[in-house]
Amino acid sequence: MKVLNIVGARPNFMKVAPLHRAFLANPNIDSKIIHTGQHYDACMSKVFFEQLELPKPDYYLGVGSGSHAVITAKIMMAFEKVILAEKPDLVLVVGDVNSTLACALVTKKLNIQLAHVEAGLRSGDRRMPEELNRIMTDSIADYLFVTEQSGLTNLTKENVPAEKIFFVGNVMMDSLCFYQKKAFALSLPEKYNLSRKAYVLMTMHRPENVDQAEKLTTMIDMMAALSEKMPVVLPLHPRTAKQLQKFSLKEKISKIPNLIILEPQGYLEFINLMNYAALIITDSGGVQEESTFLGVSCLTVRNSTERPITVTQGTNVLIPELKVDLIMAAIEKSLHQDPKDAIIPPLWDGKAAPRIVECLWKNVYNH
Ligand code: UD1
Ligand code: UDP
Repeated sequence: MKVLNIVGARPNFMKVAPLHRAFLANPNIDSKIIHTGQHYDACMSKVFFEQLELPKPDYYLGVGSGSHAVITAKIMMAFEKVILAEKPDLVLVVGDVNSTLACALVTKKLNIQLAHVEAGLRSGDRRMPEELNRIMTDSIADYLFVTEQSGLTNLTKENVPAEKIFFVGNVMMDSLCFYQKKAFALSLPEKYNLSRKAYVLMTMHRPENVDQAEKLTTMIDMMAALSEKMPVVLPLHPRTAKQLQKFSLKEKISKIPNLIILEPQGYLEFINLMNYAALIITDSGGVQEESTFLGVSCLTVRNSTERPITVTQGTNVLIPELKVDLIMAAIEKSLHQDPKDAIIPPLWDGKAAPRIVECLWKNVYNH
């Protein structure tokens, strides 16, 4: 069985690494890695190949940045050639980025079997590009692998036949389980003269938070207010860096005392920073799940989450309104109480990838 695994953007690497490892454990499976090149800076791509022990991609499509249409179209044109040359039995896509949808469309137009890992998540907000990518990918996938109960419920509501849906757990937690010992052994807080459990870790990159000058300014004001109470560490996403430049906000942010702005961090470094943070403030999808797994309090600056289990069972709290005083009140509250009594969601046990591979191995030739 020949499988092509698609990676393109940062959150894809930690999902595909355990899957590739599990595919290779079966000597009858040929597993290849296709990197679209949607993310291309070394700190957004190469470092993850090294740390997650992924091999050099079999194909690098090198599409780079652009509008949604440009990225999607470029990936489609390049990936079609790969499929025609490789004739795979199955293409596997993960998550909800543009690379996911682009490769899913090409795959099904060529009548190849398609697996979607992290299927069924829905924020209910169709203004998010990721929500459209999720809905469209799920609507054409043959195997839909679900991470949490809401995924099952959503897909059932959308009339996806039950025999296509598999509740297998969360491959992102496979990477976290596999690498946590190595990551915890690093000393990132000490590197930046911080005490463990006495700093806030922030990430911010969603267009709705960083693409308008006014909202980005509110974010900066919030960081300034927060940094008076506790040091803040901000690994800066390239989209956010670009917007700070565009809106001439670089000077304003760089003047905040007690705010440590870093390059995007490697996987192990970032897990270390998360684990020893007093609090995480984010708009990332994956970080909501990882903080729940690690039992670290997380405030998510978004109106909705496609990962509701992180709120109902995990450590996550949504902050829907981007107002400095509201965010500060939520921060004060969470800094002065223990993390919510969180439980690790069902099947987030480090074994999702072997479950997925076993299922695919049993099913792909039954068609
Ligand atoms: C993408 C995903 C988003 C995901 C995020 C993870 C889509 C629609 N969005 O958002 O779901 O949460 O990745 O990080 O697929 N850039 C660089 N270097 C890079 C990559 C990007 O400088 O290596 C800059 C470019 O200016 C680019 C901008 O970041 O225009 C945005 O990149 P893009 O991949 O379009 O979207 P992200 O915001 O990264
Ligand atoms: N991450 C990382 N370095 C960073 C920020 C995040 O390694 O500086 C990891 C994080 O631990 C998680 C993944 O990147 O595994 C989440 O990716 P991102 O926030 O870019 O995308 P999203 O999950 O929002 O789609």
